[in-house]
Amino acid sequence: MERLIEQAATDLTKSRYAVALTGAGISTESGIPDFRGPKGIWTTDREAEAKAYQRYELFLRDPKAYWEEMQGISGRHGEFYQRLREAQPNAGHYALAELEELGLLGAVLTQNIDGLHQKAGSSKVVEYHGSVHRLRCLSCGRRFVFKELSEENLPPLCKCGRALKYDVVHFKEPIPFDVMLRAQEEALKCDLMLICGTSAVVYPFAALPRQAKLHSAVKIVEINAEPTPLTAEGVSDCLIQGRTGEILPRIVEQVRQMLAKNTRNC
Ligand code: APR
Ligand code: ZN
Repeated sequence: MERLIEQAATDLTKSRYAVALTGAGISTESGIPDFRGPKGIWTTDREAEAKAYQRYELFLRDPKAYWEEMQGISGRHGEFYQRLREAQPNAGHYALAELEELGLLGAVLTQNIDGLHQKAGSSKVVEYHGSVHRLRCLSCGRRFVFKELSEENLPPLCKCGRALKYDVVHFKEPIPFDVMLRAQEEALKCDLMLICGTSAVVYPFAALPRQAKLHSAVKIVEINAEPTPLTAEGVSDCLIQGRTGEILPRIVEQVRQMLAKNTRNC
C-alpha cells in the first residue's frame, strides 16, 4: 500500500487538474452509515430501501405526507437527516480540503448529502445528490437553507406558492440540470480522478468515471474499503484498499514532503 500511496501523491503533484469523487464511504468514519457496505442502511434494511424508492413519487402525490415522513412524524428518516446535519467531518474530508488549499484539487464531486466536505473547508463541492441543509422548489428551482419546520407548516411553501421538498435527489428523481452540467464539466476536464468511498453502482453519478476514461487521458485512483465494479472493469488504474480516513491523510503527508523537497531544491 505504501508504494500506491506514494504514487498517488506523485500523481497529485504532477497533475494538471485533479478532482475527487466521493460517496458514503468517506463519511462512515464520521458515524454516518453507508448504504451498501457490510453494515450499510440498504444492506441491513431492505424495507427502508424500498421506502426510499417511493419517496420522490410520494412527494409528487402528497407533499404533506412526504414531509410527515421526512420530519419523523410518520417515519424514521427525519432522525437520519438530523443526524447528518449534526455530524462532523473526519480526517478524510480534511485531507481533501487540504489538497484544495495546496492548489492540487480542483473540485469534489460528492454523492453525499451531509455537507461534511464544506464543513471540513472544501469550497468547490458539487453535491450531485443535493444536501439535507437545503430545500428546493421543483417548479421554479429556488433553493432555501433548511430551517426547523413545525408540524403546522407542512409542506413548506416556495415564494412561487409551490410545495418545497428537500434539495436531496431521491431515487427516480432527475439530477438538477445545473448540478449535472457542473459535474460533467469537472469530470471531463480532469487528468487525475481520486474516487473515494463509493460502490460506484448508482447512475448517473457512476457514469462520470467511465465517461472520463472514454473521453480523456485521465488516471483514476480508487480509495475504497473493498473492490468495486470500477476495479473489476479496469476503469480505475489502481485500488488503494482501506479506510479513506487513514489513506487520504497519508497521501497528503507524502504530498507535503514532496512539495517541501521541491521548494528546498529550487
Ligand atoms: N473508507 C473507504 N471505503 C469505505 C469506508 C471507509 N471508511 N466505509 C465504507 N466504505 C466503502 C464501502 O465498502 C462501499 O464500497 O464505501 C462504499 C460505499 O458505497 P455505498 O454504500 O453504495 O454508498 P454510495 O456509493 O455513496 O451510494 C451512492 O446510493 O442510496 C444512494 O443516494 C444514495 O448517494 C447514495 C448513492
Ligand atoms: Zn418555486
